Amino acid sequence: MILALETSCDDTSVALVDMTGALLFHRSLSQIPLHAPFGGVVPELASRTHALHLPALVEECLRETGRTLSDLSACALTIGPGLSGGLLAAIAYLKGVGFGTRLPLVPVHHVRAHLRVAANSPDEILPGSLGLVVSGGHTHLYRIDLWPNLALLARTTDDAAGEAFDKGAKAMGLPYPGGPEIERLASGYTGRTERLVRAIHTPAPFDMSFSGLKTAFVALVGREGSDPEKRPFLAASCQGAIIGHLIDRLGKSLSHYRPPALFVGGGVAANGAFRRALEALCGDLGVPLRVAPRPLCGDNAVMVALMGLELFREGNFCSFPYDEIRPRPRWDED
Ligand code: KG4
Ligand code: ZN
Repeated sequence: MILALETSCDDTSVALVDMTGALLFHRSLSQIPLHAPFGGVVPELASRTHALHLPALVEECLRETGRTLSDLSACALTIGPGLSGGLLAAIAYLKGVGFGTRLPLVPVHHVRAHLRVAANSPDEILPGSLGLVVSGGHTHLYRIDLWPNLALLARTTDDAAGEAFDKGAKAMGLPYPGGPEIERLASGYTGRTERLVRAIHTPAPFDMSFSGLKTAFVALVGREGSDPEKRPFLAASCQGAIIGHLIDRLGKSLSHYRPPALFVGGGVAANGAFRRALEALCGDLGVPLRVAPRPLCGDNAVMVALMGLELFREGNFCSFPYDEIRPRPRWDED
């Protein structure tokens, strides 16, 4: 069995899988209420809270599944990219466990893990496929060489798509995280929406940019006011602009690269309107589409466990005293 931990942002998540990849346990403690008053994730608060919750979650996992540490083959953990303090919480915890158990540790790349759960098995991920990760920290388009190797093709030049949802929600006085709030308000709204920006210029043709949309949206909220009746219109305009831009740039990249498949993961991929727009785009272009199941779009330890299992089988793990295991907050990002 593989025990997996995910602590790179504001979810403390633990999962246990057997060697066939069957899920035996998964539980996440969200820190949303803790960070909500600040309108975003406070890194120091996040890392302290991970350190506090991890031991109890792992104990729950072992107790509820009737297992002990000696039943494990290895432990997998996200070591980057992410917030250093959060990454360090899982690293310090598992290095501590390793003093007693000498269990191998499998370092997992957070972005690859998001894409891994868009596929049922790694064999589905053909070389040359494209992978899009859309979350609070990432709006990155990759070419997948021989899985799990990724080459960055395009990225946002400023805010991430999830960040644009969060800032749009904040402008409307909605709580963090804004994506689910905006989706809830926009769903069912069929009236007119405001086209926020006509053309978005980026240095490279497939790159994305959301800061201009945000500025235009903040100005729209200023003009329209905070009347609750305006909220569905505002939310649908914000959501439509973000999704419209993602689909526009993705359409250009898919037409250019003609990949054998597109894999999509990350928190924003949970958005129903975005999923429908992806299906329509890929249907039109004849590109097979794989999107992560909704419950596994946001950060979770299941994706770390499945990625960890794959790496462990290939011999990609570290042994005690784990000198190679250190936080890599910007792993492959620059
Ligand atoms: O992947 P994730 O959980 O964490 C990061 O790695 O950042 O993504 C969180 C982001 C937040 O910005 C949140 O507003 C956005 O994903 N998000 C959504 C939805 N659910 C989460 N955005 C749009 N629609 C949603 N339903
Ligand atoms: Zn993530």
